[in-house]
Amino acid sequence: MQSDLRTRLLQAFSEAEGEFLSGQKLSETLGCSRTAVWKHIEDLRSEGYELEAVRKRGYRITHKPDKISGNEIQLGLKTEFMGRHIHFEEVVSSTQKIAHSLAGDGAEEGTIVVADQQTGGRGRLARAWYSPKQTGIWMSMILRPKIPINKTPQLTLLTAVALIQAIEEVTGLTPEIKWPNDIMINGKKIVGILTELQAEADRVHSVIIGIGMNVNHSLDQFPEELQAIATSIAEETGEPADRAQVIQAIMKNFEKLYTSYLIHGFKPVKLLWESYAISLNKTLIARTLQGTIRGRAIGIDDEGVLLLETAEGKIEKIYSADIEI
Ligand code: BTN
Repeated sequence: MQSDLRTRLLQAFSEAEGEFLSGQKLSETLGCSRTAVWKHIEDLRSEGYELEAVRKRGYRITHKPDKISGNEIQLGLKTEFMGRHIHFEEVVSSTQKIAHSLAGDGAEEGTIVVADQQTGGRGRLARAWYSPKQTGIWMSMILRPKIPINKTPQLTLLTAVALIQAIEEVTGLTPEIKWPNDIMINGKKIVGILTELQAEADRVHSVIIGIGMNVNHSLDQFPEELQAIATSIAEETGEPADRAQVIQAIMKNFEKLYTSYLIHGFKPVKLLWESYAISLNKTLIARTLQGTIRGRAIGIDDEGVLLLETAEGKIEKIYSADIEI
């Protein structure tokens, strides 16, 4: 747990946006002695922060360590409700599990569960999700939309758009979407999304959206079987990204899209989604629980369902599948 004073110190530096803050100003803002300020600054240094100290001007942070504690995420967060409640753990089995339990206990909409490492991370179709420490974003978001159950898959597509916008904003990379929930760069997966529900008959209690993003892995850190199919932001840009900053960007973009979706429906999201989709107009193989369908992807319908045109000219609706391009 960080002390309140530490939180306020980091807040002050965050608001200063890289400008110097004098020792005098800091001691007034925080209501403590200049010696106490100096001690906290030394503590920050020992944790990996780099601070420049200039006589008569004060201090400024020149480098933040890549930490994703609740404080790091909250400082600089520009949202109304997304990420306003953060449940952070160093190591968990799966953030989805924790989010389900918090949602069952009445956690507020926008609550996020973030971990530095998962030991039992899971993906779609009960696959394992590789989640080593200090490299990725392993996070679950709790939502409480008042929408019918059959519309909830739209939230996966909306999340994909928000993730692409966030990655673009922070790194300049433009990933693409492989329906329904894979985000790819140069043909390799960089993010996976897992949408789960707590619902009864026709009422959604909560939607738990799990996001697994490979951020600072180097290729040789991936298990051998993933090296040909997975990548990370650092691999693609050549430099590490600040995970807390990426989470803040996800929160901001998600909140904007989600708020608009609840008012205007899926249409605007659909247009954005289509602009990022790689699979459109390509011939795909969709492996569904009911069997395998081969066809040309002609788009998604207004519900977010994938439409495949088979060689016989029949339009097949794909609600859930594993896609091979
Ligand atoms: C996929 O199969 O592509 C979805 C992967 C989702 C992984 C994330 S990591 C955070 C959250 N916790 C989990 O156990 N899974 C999701």
